[in-house]
Amino acid sequence: MDPSIWGAKTDASTVAEYYHNQIAGKTILITGVSPGSLAAEYVKALAPHGPKLLVLASRNISNFQAVIAPLKEKNPTVSFRPLVVDLASQKSIRKAADEVHSYEESIDVLVNNASLNGMKKYSVTEDEFETAFAVGHLGHFLFTGLIADKLSPKARIVVVSSMMHWMADVNMEDPNFDNGKTYDKDVAYARTKSANIHMIKALARRGFNAVVLHPGVAKTGMMREFTDAEAEKLVEEFNLEFQTNQQASATYVYGSFAPELSDTALNGAFLKDCKVDEAAPFCEVEGVGERLWKASERWVGLEWGSR
Ligand SMILES: NC(=O)c1ccc[n+]([C@@H]2O[C@H](COP(=O)([O-])OP(=O)(O)OC[C@H]3O[C@@H](n4cnc5c(N)ncnc54)[C@H](OP(=O)(O)O)[C@@H]3O)[C@@H](O)[C@H]2O)c1
Repeated sequence: MDPSIWGAKTDASTVAEYYHNQIAGKTILITGVSPGSLAAEYVKALAPHGPKLLVLASRNISNFQAVIAPLKEKNPTVSFRPLVVDLASQKSIRKAADEVHSYEESIDVLVNNASLNGMKKYSVTEDEFETAFAVGHLGHFLFTGLIADKLSPKARIVVVSSMMHWMADVNMEDPNFDNGKTYDKDVAYARTKSANIHMIKALARRGFNAVVLHPGVAKTGMMREFTDAEAEKLVEEFNLEFQTNQQASATYVYGSFAPELSDTALNGAFLKDCKVDEAAPFCEVEGVGERLWKASERWVGLEWGSR
């Protein structure tokens, strides 16, 4: 199939079929794997194409077991490995990163996917950061930094953002919404998703191969904080439409394996519907991205990024 005709209705399995040779033999680590999630669909699409190892990071082992149960028998040569991590806890992230360091394999593709919608009620993590931002941005920033030396030389880092990033840029002066007084759940989510884009652009500037994507819109766990009416309204606002999980995860496969995304000109690209797309212009501002990088280093207590 010709990739130029791929779009919102293309399935992850179609894209995986096309990139069979790129998937075979690779070690892939993805966060946020639960039954019914887009990550579960990504794993299902990759498994028949002979990856060497799929590391599935979840909050608990039962998520892992439920996702791999239907896949193990059909794909006997693929190794599936659980990694338990709570991205809301810097302590848990450090423990998980130590576990990754004990692997023999290097990571060829890292997909930072886990996220929470802005919670209806303001909350902070044990490290005192607003929860959506802590999980979706700071958690992945710390995890990636801690395992950066376990990435293979040509590894690709993929971060899953959202079109909702257009609603708000990061706010480094007040990441905790004046202790919750000015909290807005959609803004919290949008700031996190903008942070994802700034992080990818900063990684590309640091010589990593990195891309960021809007998946698609699908009724996964992500919708649990929305009523049906709220979800419909948002989808309309961004001129999107609901997709199946298979369709909504196709860009994960494209972003992970399309060889052209290693080219300097496309490094750091924002992807949507299996194509390069435009992120909001405020996410292109290098000075903001670099300030976020420095602030994130301070907030997680880790300086990293040279290769
Ligand atoms: N679905 C959509 O329409 C849509 C649209 C745009 C962007 N996205 C993005 O797509 C990505 C995947 O979302 P999804 O739709 O597959 O939703 P999902 O089913 O809710 O998956 C999100 C995953 O993140 C995990 N997670 C949440 N908090 C965590 C924590 N503290 N530590 C570790 N893992 C945690 C969840 O684990 P639990 O199951 O244990 O909660 C779940 O595995 C997200 O980045 C989301 O922002 C989705």
